[in-house]
Amino acid sequence: MKVLVVGNGGREHAIIQSLKKSKKIDVIYAIAGNGGIANDAITVDINVKDVEKVAEWAAENQIDFAVVAPDDPLVLGAVNILNEKGIPCFGPTKEAAIIEGSKIFSKNLMKKYSIPTAEYETFSDKDKAIEYLEKCDMPIVIKADGLALGKGVIIANTLEEAKDAVKSMMEDKVFGASGANVVIEEFLTGPEVSVLSFTDGKTLVPMISSMDHKRALDNDEGLNTGGMGTVAPNPYYTESVAKECMEKIFLPTMNAMNQEGRTFKGCLYFGLMLTPKGPKVIEYNCRFGDPETQVVLPLLKTDLLEIMQAVAEERLSEINVEFKKKSACCVIMASKGYPSSYDKGFEINFKTSRKNVFVAGAKLEDGKLLTNGGRVLGVTAISSNLKGAIKKAYKKVSKISFANAYYRSDIGARALKAYGEKI
Ligand code: AMP
Ligand code: GLY
Repeated sequence: MKVLVVGNGGREHAIIQSLKKSKKIDVIYAIAGNGGIANDAITVDINVKDVEKVAEWAAENQIDFAVVAPDDPLVLGAVNILNEKGIPCFGPTKEAAIIEGSKIFSKNLMKKYSIPTAEYETFSDKDKAIEYLEKCDMPIVIKADGLALGKGVIIANTLEEAKDAVKSMMEDKVFGASGANVVIEEFLTGPEVSVLSFTDGKTLVPMISSMDHKRALDNDEGLNTGGMGTVAPNPYYTESVAKECMEKIFLPTMNAMNQEGRTFKGCLYFGLMLTPKGPKVIEYNCRFGDPETQVVLPLLKTDLLEIMQAVAEERLSEINVEFKKKSACCVIMASKGYPSSYDKGFEINFKTSRKNVFVAGAKLEDGKLLTNGGRVLGVTAISSNLKGAIKKAYKKVSKISFANAYYRSDIGARALKAYGEKI
């Protein structure tokens, strides 16, 4: 089989390394991939947002199955166009991807179907939004409606900050059209859990839970990033929490999308907060999380291609999806300065195996792998327990070097604390 994976980052590299274990696959292509992905797939230089071109290339090259991983091409309808050309895909259509593409859509969906989430109001008028803020308790959360590279959420501690956030989105248009409408919602507290799930619209199978580390610096300080590391499983996600989430959130969401005529097929990601009043949805993503995928897929025992094909063919109920009873930790090695400005173009040296080292931002030049992004590598290790996985991941990190490297030194510490342990 010829399989195409659409995407450029560490998540796509993890998907490709996992697919490579499938005996049914002869060749994997990546659009556009990156210098590290080129180690495991044939990379094809087409912009992932140019969905027509991606689909044309796939048809011309007789691709048997496509996996569309990032939010942008999904929201732009890459799966619709690939399907029209007769290419089966893993990933939602644009009608279903709206669950991530519009926060107003997802909030209204949750309200309509009584799925627990933060209280909220939506606004298309800046003055009305500001008037509303005057009556709110602080902190308050302001979210741009559309996609904003994970940066469209502002937690304001004072009324002044809240007004500034609304102005920057609705007046200064820092997120372009994505901020034309905003959601203003209640600030929730509690541990956060990411749960990725496979669903074909009939069956929903949650994957092993995970925990992201979004802030740039140790002790969860500094700016928000795309994610500086992950661990799986998440110790806060106990069996009873999992049961409650399945009953009150996961299945109701799958059914709600069916009711709306927007059946979701692919990976549905639940960003949850375990509040004192029970689990609530912080966000939905229409795709695998990054860097959650870098800890979840290395723990998957079942053939990923088999699951993805079953999802596409709406027979997920036939598959027994199994995970290793182990723990994983992924430490992101970034360029110093990320998520603000940083230098790139430095050679990456490995004194360790590259298995489970997922390349996010690097390019190949004259046979050398050079840094080419803010997040450069996701270094994952697996062990029988979390402490062991953390130790192994940092040991692996110590064997990889490039100029200007930066990584957090406390990935997993919060999770270990939940078990009463320290790094
Ligand atoms: P997102 O970009 O939607 O993943 O949001 C970024 C982060 O903002 C989340 O991981 C949460 O830590 C935080 N956040 C989002 N919504 C809320 C909320 N209603 N209350 C508290 N924190 C929130
Ligand atoms: N790690 C969160 C995301 O992928 O959006």
